Amino acid sequence: MNKLIKRAIFLMLGNIFTVFLFAQQLPITPYPNQVEIKEGSLKISQTITIDDVKSSFKGELDVFKKQLNDYTNYKIKKRKLNTILYLIKDESVKQESYELKISSKGIEMKAGDSVGAFYGLQSVLQILIDSEIKEQAIAYCQIKDQPRYAWRGLMLDESRYFFGGKEVKRLLDMMAIHKLNKFHWHLTDSPGWRMEIKKYPLLTKVGGMGNQFDPNAPAQYYSQKEIKEIIEYAAQRHIEVIPEIDMPGHATAAVRAYPEISGGGSEKYPNFTFHPGKEETFEFLTNVLKEVGELFPSKYIHIGGDEVHFGNHMWKTFPEVKEMMKKNKWKSMVDVEHYFLNRMADTIQNMNKTVLGWDEVVGAGLSRYNTTVMWWRHDKPQLFEKSIKEGYQVIMCPRLPLYFDFVQHDSHKDGRRWNGIADIESVYAFPNKEMTGGNDFDKANVLGMQANIWTEVIHNNDRMEFMTFPRIAALAEASWTTNGQKNWKGFSDRLPGLINFYQQRGIKLFNPLQPNKTPEINGPVKSN
Ligand code: ACM
Repeated sequence: MNKLIKRAIFLMLGNIFTVFLFAQQLPITPYPNQVEIKEGSLKISQTITIDDVKSSFKGELDVFKKQLNDYTNYKIKKRKLNTILYLIKDESVKQESYELKISSKGIEMKAGDSVGAFYGLQSVLQILIDSEIKEQAIAYCQIKDQPRYAWRGLMLDESRYFFGGKEVKRLLDMMAIHKLNKFHWHLTDSPGWRMEIKKYPLLTKVGGMGNQFDPNAPAQYYSQKEIKEIIEYAAQRHIEVIPEIDMPGHATAAVRAYPEISGGGSEKYPNFTFHPGKEETFEFLTNVLKEVGELFPSKYIHIGGDEVHFGNHMWKTFPEVKEMMKKNKWKSMVDVEHYFLNRMADTIQNMNKTVLGWDEVVGAGLSRYNTTVMWWRHDKPQLFEKSIKEGYQVIMCPRLPLYFDFVQHDSHKDGRRWNGIADIESVYAFPNKEMTGGNDFDKANVLGMQANIWTEVIHNNDRMEFMTFPRIAALAEASWTTNGQKNWKGFSDRLPGLINFYQQRGIKLFNPLQPNKTPEINGPVKSN
């Protein structure tokens, strides 16, 4: 009898334990695509030994050691009886993938290439951070992980507000830990030109003055040396930096510096465009793109192409444009716009680079082999469909839910709204058919997704962080973890840990789980 009771209790506890194991998840965001949690756990010693004899991931390990030092109290030392982290290069592990095994032996991470090794180390880092905070052993587990999308991007608009290199590196640090891998740098637009171009110094001297909130702000921009340093910092974290030179619209800062190539504007957007009828314009922009192409190792150069109709009203009055239209039998200013884009796309092709453009470039007849489209107008899903049908590679960044200048909570007063807000739940839920207008987001030419931090309503570093964190974590998981593995409940259970981690770094965030405890860091203006 006694034995039977004991056995029943044993079975019951076993069941409870099993349920606990199933409910348990690992503290990794984005969540890995294949996870097996096993019975038992590994206690981590305060000093860790790294055995990297069988790896060649020195650069990745250097960043990891720095992160471990910055984010935890763990020390790395060669000592017996430590927890051992084994790094193994294994060519059978697919590119950009990693395998992780935690057992009584220690932590074993295998990767076939340096990208996969970096991602594996980011997962190890997150596990260690969590186990230190919770003073907990790590569950034995086995992970096989690879990204869902090749493009997991974040765009920062520094034309409207200049955040500076320190803040950009802070953002890159958080991108790295979440395995985001593309930093799209919006450095030129109407309020300010932020990138040194040696051939045209007035671009920064004159065009770098002012911002969205203060037209008289002193010139702020990045020198080419500073840009190189940021590209290098990002590359060490396997983040590619993609420059954008917006044209033929959003050109006010550039033509303020060089008025001879202005194509005029409208009442609301004065001097908004480059002149499409002057050879001088194309020569100027070709020289600019050459310097940009040499500076940025990325194969992509983004040429904008958006919202030209905001300020192309003068074009039809220019004799050069009239003549071109007559000669080529063009009917409208859209034809002129397409001509402009084709000329600049040719320049980029001649540099052996790939054109990136906002979804206005669809229909311009650019080469499908050399053009990637960013679908941003969520209310025009037909442009997403058309891009795919025409064979372009496509990156999804629809305003809703992926523009981080939209408010993220209904109680917030400042920021954009457009029949909807971009709360963390909807960022997490992307992509789904409802949000893509019924279009298939798993097609081979859908490269991935990106969130864009536009700064019309963001006027300081704290507010940028408030608008970005923790939505950045939802972006990371939505772009890394397949829809089958994504799980809002699991993500929201991990969210307090992430929020705590960000706050430890001094990041000013919004806590969607306790909206009343993190008052809005207000913007300067309300926007629609
Ligand atoms: C954009 O938001 N104008 C691409």
